[in-house]
Order: sequence, then C-alpha cells, then structure tokens
Amino acid sequence: MKQKLFDKFAELFGNSDGAHFYFSPGRVNLIGEHTDYNGGHVFPCALTMGTYGAARKRDDRIIHFYSMNLDKFGVVEVSLDDLTYSQEYNWANYPLGVVWTFAGKGYKLDSGFDMVIWGNIPNGAGLSSSASLEVLTGVILTDLFGITDLSMTDLALIGQYSENNFNGCNCGIMDQFTVAMGKKDNAIFLDTNTMKYEYAPIKLDDAKIIITNSKVKHSLVDSAYNDRRQECTDALAALKTKLDIGALGDLTPEQFEAAKDIITDPVQLKRAKHAVYENQRTIDAVAALKDGNITKFGELMNQSHISLRDDYEVSCEEIDILVDLAWKIPGVIGSRITGGGFGGCTVSIVKNEAVDTFIESIGKAYKEKVGHEAEFYTVDIGDGASRLD
Ligand code: GLA
Repeated sequence: MKQKLFDKFAELFGNSDGAHFYFSPGRVNLIGEHTDYNGGHVFPCALTMGTYGAARKRDDRIIHFYSMNLDKFGVVEVSLDDLTYSQEYNWANYPLGVVWTFAGKGYKLDSGFDMVIWGNIPNGAGLSSSASLEVLTGVILTDLFGITDLSMTDLALIGQYSENNFNGCNCGIMDQFTVAMGKKDNAIFLDTNTMKYEYAPIKLDDAKIIITNSKVKHSLVDSAYNDRRQECTDALAALKTKLDIGALGDLTPEQFEAAKDIITDPVQLKRAKHAVYENQRTIDAVAALKDGNITKFGELMNQSHISLRDDYEVSCEEIDILVDLAWKIPGVIGSRITGGGFGGCTVSIVKNEAVDTFIESIGKAYKEKVGHEAEFYTVDIGDGASRLD
C-alpha cells in the first residue's frame, strides 16, 4: 500500500522525499449502541481495515488533500489562513475540520502540508470511515509539527469536536476513541461518563465475528442522529426535575422504571428506555464474556437489536432482513445492527462451522428480497492509529 500511496504522492507533488506513512483503522461496535452520548458504556473494537495516509510539510501556507478513493475531487487546496467549511471540499472537510480544531486550541501550524489518503473501509457503512480520517489527520499533524503534548485520547476528542462543530454531526466519542486507542485482538470497554476504559481480549476459538454490509445508506442520517440525541437530552431534562443525575447512563433499569413516568413524551420515553437498558446490557455482556459465556453475550446482542429497532428506531427494513435471516441460522450466537443506524452494517458472532452457510444463505436470500448483494467481512481486530514508518 505504501508504494501506491507514495507513487501518487510523487506524481502530485513532485517527489515523496521526506513524506511519512500513517494508518488509522475503522471500528465495529459489538454492543453499547447510542449510549456514548448518554454517559453509558460501549464495547467496540478497531478493525484492520482503515485509512492509509502519506503526508509531508510544505514551505508555504497551502494545504493539499487528495483521496485515491475519491479522485474525482482532485487535489483539494485550502489556505491555512482560511480554514472554513466548504461544500465543494467534500470529504476533505473531515481532515480540514481537524486542522481547524488544532488551530482553535492554540496549535497553529507554522506551514501547510500535503496529504494523500487511500482507505478500504466501505464508505457510509457505519464502520467509522470519518472518525478514521479525523484521527489519521490528528496523528499526522502531531507528527509533522512536533506536537508532543496531545495524547491519543486528546486526538480522539479533537476528532469528535471537529465532527460536532465543523461537520455538523453531534456524534459521541465512541468512534474516535476506538480508532485512536484500538488494540489488536481486544475490544475496548469504555465508560463514556468517566472516560475510564479497559481492554478485553476477544478470544473466540470456535467462532468468528462477521460484519454484513447492507449496502444501503438512508438519507438524513446525520439529522436523524441529531434528533435522537436531542430526544435523549429532553428525556434527561425531564428526569432531572426529580432526580439528581447527570446522564441517562447514571440510572439502572430499576431506577429508570421507578422514575420513568416523569417523562411525558412517549417518544422520549422510548429513547431513554433504550439508553438505560442498552447500557446495562453492555455491562452484562462484558461480564458474560469474561465468564466465557458467549451464548449470553449473543443473547444480549439480539436484545440490543430489538431495542434499537423498536425503541430507538434506528434500524431499517434491509438491516432487519439481515438480522432476521441471521437469527434463523443454527450456529449464529448473536446478530444486531452496529453503528449509528439507518442502513450500514450488522455485526454477528457465528460459529466457525456455520460461517459458510451464513454467508451463502444470507447472501442469496438478501439479494432475492432486496435486489442487491450484501457484503461480508470477517473481523480482524487491529491496533489504533499510528505512523507506520
Ligand atoms: C455513530 C456515532 C457514535 C455513536 C454511534 C451509535 O457511530 O459517531 O458516537 O453514537 O453512532 O452508537
């Protein structure tokens, strides 16, 4: 990959002398969905799929971004003196937002830079191609400009800040955190309330984690996402009139059941219920995993899907088809929607001996019902973002 990227870099910018090579992964969330902006727990892992980058400082105040995946946008050129969002920059608004956030936090770059990327995370599939790119940019900037006082957690927070304030999606911290902090063969059990985390080894001797891409992305994803977030904020505000809590994640299901009548709006009630129960499911799932009880882990994944489908309402027909098909296959331990929702991917734990059947039978039935193919990826859990050379 490095050679391809560096050849392109040289073609665009004269040569690749002194450029460096970087990688930043995508992520898949095993359980704990839409809990990260509700002060709850998440349990994602970084993938070996991700975004590769080549970058080098310039002598002037120009920044160049080029994507080998989206070459139709050509070289996007921005001046360090005008770091503003522009529709025509398209994908480059993600790395640009990170430069803008660095500048806003006092890390003003003393020169521009050239950056070429290529990635193998399917776009818009809910596997965090944008967080991958944001954290990649953070790693590049700290490396090129010798910034030593920002930790990987800081780079995750910068990525989230830039996505919230530059790109307009009020996402939580899960994606950027996972991309920054990922560890090979481990998932991350993160409490988004305290930002305390621990790594949990994923050793499934007789099963695989399979991502199934529905290859649909329904429009208005960001606005629907922001709506969900607002509904949770409103539900929390109602609960706070009677309870001394800081987030929905502070409540156990029992405490929620005792207090829930304070929420008068039925939609807000469903959203809050999901957030509270999903948080508990995540805690229980990690405990089950530590006990070696993968069956229970799978059941909790299934319950997570039902809750996301019925109470949080972020699933869609195509994803429900994939999950229903998966649930019918013997050897499927658990299957659910993963990521923000409204299309994208499912994540399933499948016994080794059922993997071929899973891919063949779901692939066929999905094509028949929906009219296009699904894609399947076996998960290899990789490390977080870093410079590779
Ligand atoms: C998106 C967001 C995350 C998280 C998930 C849902 O991926 O970026 O912060 O909220 O949706 O769990």
